[in-house]
Amino acid sequence: MYNSYSPQLNIAANAALLAGKSIMRFYSRLETLKVMSKGFNDYVSEADQEAEKIITEALMKAYPQYKITAEESGSNDVKSEYEWFIDPLDGTTNFIHGIPQFAVSIGLCKDKVPILGVVYDPFKNELFCAEKGKGALMNEKKIRVAKCSSIKKAVFGTGIPYRKKDHSGVYIETLRTLMDARCGSIRRLGAAALDLSYVASGRLDGFWEFNLKPWDIAAGSIIVSEAGGHISDINGNENYLETGNVLAANINLHEDVIEKLQKNLI
Ligand code: IPD
Ligand code: CA
Ligand code: CA
Repeated sequence: MYNSYSPQLNIAANAALLAGKSIMRFYSRLETLKVMSKGFNDYVSEADQEAEKIITEALMKAYPQYKITAEESGSNDVKSEYEWFIDPLDGTTNFIHGIPQFAVSIGLCKDKVPILGVVYDPFKNELFCAEKGKGALMNEKKIRVAKCSSIKKAVFGTGIPYRKKDHSGVYIETLRTLMDARCGSIRRLGAAALDLSYVASGRLDGFWEFNLKPWDIAAGSIIVSEAGGHISDINGNENYLETGNVLAANINLHEDVIEKLQKNLI
């Protein structure tokens, strides 16, 4: 499908498309969808489980020697420098409420660094993907981050904490910092992998969230960087995949936001 991209990316993209089809079948009959609770404000539905099964089977068949870490079923026993991070349905809360903003996210890391990623929104039929050194695409068209470098004009996406209280204090400080800076606007769309893809495609100028998991970020982060954007934790460090604290934007806006946050968060 994507001739100049690797077989790994093509296999991940096909798995995401197949999982997306299954997700849409469940979406058309939400009234009978089985939803289970995993923890406080944390749900899994049969759509998440079925999508994960489709993806892990496809990836294991093609790359049995790669490690897999998937949100619902955890990690396999394989030891490898290559690791897939799978979020079969990012935006489950949106999904079960019938809000059409959710996606499949599949990222591949080598030595813990994302090297390719696929994010598929099956409702809008939008497939975002990227591979190290090859650029980022949305439905086969090159995408780039927005040019906006002024906080005052920037539209940010964010994730408001709703599971753990740990981050709510510092989160509110970040929100206050951008509100005090009179930023253009702030959106809470509800699927982090898509938020990152929207930064990559210039729909959002920036995005930040705390406490994300590697399966939320692995694919989206390479899509952002291959679209010319910058991604770090909210202190500007590179270890966002471990900390789960993420700020993504074009390099100028990113610098400006980090500078403002550092002044206000100390
Ligand atoms: C969640 C979504 C949400 C974000 C949460 C994630 P899930 O993923 O990405 O936007 O705010 O932090 O956990 O649970 O729907 O896969
Ligand atoms: Ca997720
Ligand atoms: Ca999920």
